[in-house]
Order: sequence, then structure tokens, then C-alpha cells
Amino acid sequence: MRVLVVGNGGREHAIIQSLKKSKKIDALYAIAGNGGIAADAVTVDMDVKDVNKVAEWAVENKIDFAVVAPDDPLVLGAVNVLNEKGIPCFGPTKEAAIIEGSKIFSKNLMKKYGIPTASYETFSDMEKANAYLEKCDMPIVIKADGLALGKGVIIAENLDDAKAAVKGMMEDKMFGQSGANIVIEEFLTGPEVSVLSFTDGKTLVPMISSMDHKRALDDDKGLNTGGMGTVAPNPYYTESVAKECMEKIFIPTMNAMNAEGRTFKGCLYFGLMLTTKGPKVIEYNCRFGDPETQVVLPLLKTDLLEIMMAVANEKLSEIKVEFKKKSACCVIMASKGYPEKYEKGFEITFKTSRKNVFVAGAKLDGDKLLTNGGRVLGVTAVSGNLKGAIKKAYKKVSKINFANAYCRSDIGKRALKAYGEKI
Ligand code: AMP
Ligand code: GLY
Repeated sequence: MRVLVVGNGGREHAIIQSLKKSKKIDALYAIAGNGGIAADAVTVDMDVKDVNKVAEWAVENKIDFAVVAPDDPLVLGAVNVLNEKGIPCFGPTKEAAIIEGSKIFSKNLMKKYGIPTASYETFSDMEKANAYLEKCDMPIVIKADGLALGKGVIIAENLDDAKAAVKGMMEDKMFGQSGANIVIEEFLTGPEVSVLSFTDGKTLVPMISSMDHKRALDDDKGLNTGGMGTVAPNPYYTESVAKECMEKIFIPTMNAMNAEGRTFKGCLYFGLMLTTKGPKVIEYNCRFGDPETQVVLPLLKTDLLEIMMAVANEKLSEIKVEFKKKSACCVIMASKGYPEKYEKGFEITFKTSRKNVFVAGAKLDGDKLLTNGGRVLGVTAVSGNLKGAIKKAYKKVSKINFANAYCRSDIGKRALKAYGEKI
């Protein structure tokens, strides 16, 4: 089969390395991919948001199956256009991708169907938002309705900061049109868990749980980033929590989307917070999480292409999805300065195998691989236990070099502590 993966980050590289294990694949393409992905797939330079052009390319190049990974093309309807042209896909239609594309949609969905989440109000008028804030307890959480590169969430500690956030989003348009409408929601506390799931609208199969590390600096300090590392499984996600999530959140969400006429087929991501009042949804994503995918897929035992095709054909119930009973740790090697200002264009050298080294931001210059983004590599290791996976991942990191490389030194520390262990 000729398979296309749409996207260009570490997540897509993890999907591609996993798909490559499938015997069914004869040719693997990536639009647009990156210089590192080029080692595992044929990369085609194209804007992933130009969904019509992507679909035309797929038809011309006789693609049998497409995987659309990032939020932007999904929300823009890449799967709709590809399906219209007769190409089966893994990924939701734009009608279903709205679960991530609009926070107001997802909050209203949860309210309507009784799915546990933070209490909230939505606003399209700044004065009304400010008047509401006067009555709120602090801290308070302010979210832009639309996509904002994962940055559209502000946690305000006091009323002044909260009003500044509302002004920034609604008047100053810090997230463009995404902030024209906002959600103001209750601040929750508790361990966070990411659960990715496969669903075809009839069956939902959760993948192994994971833990993201969003802040730039050790001990969860510094700015929010796209993610500085992940571990799987997540120690807080016990069997009883998993059962409760399945009953109160996962299945009700799948059913709610069906009831709304927006059947979700693809990877549905649940960002959860385990509060003292039970698990609550912090966010939905309509796609694989990044960098969660970099720890989840290396633990997958089942053929990924078979699962994805079963999802597209609504036959997920016929597949047994299995994960290795092991642990994984992914350490992001970033450019120093990320997520603010950083330099790029430095050569990356490897004194280790590139298996499970997922390239997020790099380009080729002849046969040299140069840094080309804030997050450069996701370096993953798998081991029998979490401690082993962490040690192996950092050992691998020590064998990869580029100028101005930066990584957190405590990925997995919090998870180990939850197991009562220390690094
Ligand atoms: P999101 O972009 O929705 O994943 O939000 C980014 C981060 O903000 C989450 O991972 C949480 O750490 C935090 N966050 C979002 N919503 C809330 C909330 N209601 N209460 C506390 N923290 C939150
Ligand atoms: N790691 C969170 C996300 O992919 O949005």
C-alpha cells in the first residue's frame, strides 16, 4: 500500500516509524515531513493547511490510505476533502474535529451530556466577561475559543491579571480571531493525565496513559511549551481511575458526538485532571498528542496501520490493540531559548541509533541534519520499568549533540516519586 502521513513534527515521525513496521506498506510519504523524517519516508514540501492541494497530490500519487495528524488540517477539513476524492483516512472530519477546534463547542458538549469538566461561562463581550470576573474566585482560567498553537490558556492569579488576559484575547487579539470568543472556567487542581484513544464511533480503545511536562524548566517552572518530555504509563492512572474515565468520560464523549451527528473517527485525546471530586476533562484534542505519541507508539505491539484502517472502516471491535508491559520516557532536546527566542541552523550529530529518536524541527543540508525549530528532537527509550526508561533516554541524549541544545533534566521525576522512587 501507498500511505501518506500529513504533518511535520515529532508526533508524525513517531507515527511514521511505527507505520514502517507494517508489512502492508510499500511506500510511505510525508507532507511536509522534515529533514529527520526524510530518513524514514519520502517527504513532499507543501503547506499542510492547503488541504485541497494535499488531496490533489494524494490522488495524483495514487495514495491508498492517508493519516492526517495535526489539528489545523483536520479542523480545515483535510479528511473531508480526501474522502470526497475516494481516499480513506485516519482522522476525524471537520465536523468532528470541532471538539478541539472550538473550546466553546467542547464545553457545551460536556455540559449537555453530563461529562465532568470545570464549571465555566462563555463570552463574546468583554464588558460582560469583566463583570463576571468580579464574582469569581482566584486563580481563574481564561481560554481562547479557537486553536492557538496550544497557547490559548491563561491561568490568572488575581483579578487584574484576569482582566488583562481577557483584554489581550478579546481586544488586542493576541491569538487572532481564536480569542474573539472566550471561556472563563474554574481552576482545578490534581495530577494531570493524557489518554489517547482509538475510536471509530462504535468502539473506543484507550491507549496506554502518559504524562506530559509542559513547562520549560526543571521542577515545572518557567513558561508553558508545546511539551518538554513525556513518560508512559502515568502512575496516577490506576485501574480504578481508568474504569471511571471509561464509564463517565470516554464512552459518553463518543456517544455525545454520535448524538450530535458528528461521529468521531480517529485518535481522540483526553487531557484529564484527577481532582478530589474525580477525573475531569481539561481539554479534548482531535488528534494524537505531541509529545505523548513519542512514548505511546513505541509501546504499541499491534500493527498501527491495521488499527488505523479498522478505524476508517468502522471495524475497530475486530482488532485486539495491545501494548507492551513496559515503560517509556521521551526527553525533548530543544534549542536554548525555546519557547521564546532561539537560534537555529546548527548541525546535529548522533553517536547512537536513531531508532525512537523523533525529529521535530530539523532540515537537511546535503547529508547534514541542521536544527530548524524550538523543539528539535524527542529522544525516547523503552525499558522494563520507568527508572530504566528514564536512564536510557538521558544516556541517549548524552550521545546526541548540537550547539545550544537544551533539555529538562527531570523528565519522569514526578512520576517516579508517585511510585515512591527517586532517580
Ligand atoms: P490546554 O492548552 O487546554 O492543555 O491547557 C494548558 C494547561 O493549562 C493544562 O495542561 C493545565 O495544566 C492548565 N489548565 C487548563 N485548564 C485548567 C483548569 N481548568 N484548571 C487548572 N489548570 C488548567
Ligand atoms: N501535549 C498536548 C498536545 O498535544 O496538545
